[in-house]
Amino acid sequence: MARLSLRKLFLFFLCLSAVLFLLISLQVVVELGQFERTVHKLPPRDLREAGQRHHSQGLSVLAGEKTSPGELRAQYPYIVWWSPLTGENGRLGECGTNKCFFTINRTFYSHPFTQAFLFYGTDFNIESLPLPRRVHHQWALFHEESPKNNYKLFHEPAISLFNHTATFSQHSHLPLTSQFLENLDVLTSQAHLVPLTQKNKLRKTLAPVAYIQSDCDTPSDRDTYVSELMKHIQVDSYGQCLHNRDLPPLLRDSTAMEEQAFYQILAQYKFILAFENAVCDDYITEKLWRPLKLGVVPVYYGAPNIWNWLPSNRSAVVVVPDEPPEKLAQYLKRLDENDLEYSTYLEWKLKREVSNLKLIKELKERPWGVQDLTQDNYLDVFECMVCNRVWENIDRRKEGLFPKTWQAERNHLTCPPPKTFDFVSVPSNQTSLQGIWTSSYEQSKKEAIALRRLAERNRNFTVAQYWKEVFPD
Ligand SMILES: *[C@@H]1O[C@H](CO)[C@@H](O)[C@H](O)[C@H]1NC(C)=O
Ligand SMILES: *[C@@H]1O[C@H](CO)[C@@H](O)[C@H](O)[C@H]1NC(C)=O
Ligand SMILES: *[C@@H]1O[C@H](CO)[C@@H](O)[C@H](O)[C@H]1NC(C)=O
Ligand SMILES: *[C@@H]1O[C@H](CO)[C@@H](O)[C@H](O)[C@H]1NC(C)=O
Ligand SMILES: *[C@@H]1O[C@H](CO)[C@@H](O)[C@H](O)[C@H]1NC(C)=O
Repeated sequence: MARLSLRKLFLFFLCLSAVLFLLISLQVVVELGQFERTVHKLPPRDLREAGQRHHSQGLSVLAGEKTSPGELRAQYPYIVWWSPLTGENGRLGECGTNKCFFTINRTFYSHPFTQAFLFYGTDFNIESLPLPRRVHHQWALFHEESPKNNYKLFHEPAISLFNHTATFSQHSHLPLTSQFLENLDVLTSQAHLVPLTQKNKLRKTLAPVAYIQSDCDTPSDRDTYVSELMKHIQVDSYGQCLHNRDLPPLLRDSTAMEEQAFYQILAQYKFILAFENAVCDDYITEKLWRPLKLGVVPVYYGAPNIWNWLPSNRSAVVVVPDEPPEKLAQYLKRLDENDLEYSTYLEWKLKREVSNLKLIKELKERPWGVQDLTQDNYLDVFECMVCNRVWENIDRRKEGLFPKTWQAERNHLTCPPPKTFDFVSVPSNQTSLQGIWTSSYEQSKKEAIALRRLAERNRNFTVAQYWKEVFPD
């Protein structure tokens, strides 16, 4: 009897202590949770658990950090620059109240904390991709360049592999359309402006039009157009393409393009040919902004939607590609001979008046700056966009909500196929455009489809497998 009640008593105490232990540890967990919520945002449960398992690894990775040892450093999401633009091996990035660990070290591919991969478009390489792609792996593309670089990304099957984008397109998640324009003041500045009377005097020695280009074989096929134009109006061509006039020796290397002395030469002209290397909506480079800054009228060929971005509706002569260059030449000659009409293209400059509200809004609201130390640069903003979106889903999961999804769409990176100018009558296979860029465009379409198929198979693949997918026969 005594033995039995002693055992009961023992069991009772055992239960009691178990319950007490449970209560206490629960309290600790709750408190810890509260503490952590105020100090850090908590990663989702699987991340946290993995964090305990991988704690030592996480700590060693972040050993260089100047944070206190007590901080739960291993809990930041990892973001891997898979094709990097920056050379940093590891860095804790702060994005408002969120922090993410950025690295170019590919061994983090398999780390359980890795939430996103960043790709620099020009270096995006099918030779090795972070495959298989786990459900929580977000892909983000930074590609500010023209389709001359990595054409295959400019097709829906390829671009839609990415969750987040920063491209020249105004439709991308972080539009870089105005990346070559510092601010409105440089546009309205009259620092370089040469008065029209002076320009007219200079016409004795200078052509009305200047051209400066050293990339002579481009998807836009600009040199074909310009060489035809030159048959009908005098053009001083300083670059390697269609070269007919030399720069002073000191200005001959391409790094001199932003020198004051070079600006002074260009500012003397009435027109500058601003022809982009590719024809895509929103793809606008310094070729447009430079003459506008200098007070020279740009003759623009490139983005078909350029009217969206010009400082005023009479600030550039926009090339109509269906019309023969001869017609453009006639129009430029007329302006050259008619001061009043030419001046209407500079009225916005003389009044220092930018009337395009879209352009004003874009420059005011873009979250990054150009050559401006008081503002973030667009790469930092790109990294933080991804970091913040990763955190947004961590927070949503914590609150029991479905994670959000992001998906790049076709218009985040798109260009029409290269097109031969209508006036070109030579057999099409003789122009460089037909020979190279059209077939390159067609092949890139096949590559995009192949890339999509292989990515959906979700297994690592070899270069040979890729080409077999592109050209099945
Ligand atoms: C990449 O990280 C691993 C640990 O995950 C480390 O062993 C390796 O040295 C790192 N590589 C470089 C180049 O730092
Ligand atoms: C994919 O395979 C290549 C070799 O074919 C290898 O070098 C690379 O590390 C692999 N990538 C991943 C993410 O496993
Ligand atoms: C150009 O803008 C001016 C005002 O800035 C306006 O009066 C004029 O109608 C516009 N012209 C065209 C063709 O849009
Ligand atoms: C990222 O994109 C992939 C592929 O389209 C998609 O399956 C996944 O749900 C997306 N993830 C997020 C967080 O948007
Ligand atoms: C271009 O086309 C013409 C006739 O269509 C043909 O005779 C010529 O060989 C072609 N040239 C090249 C380089 O393919």
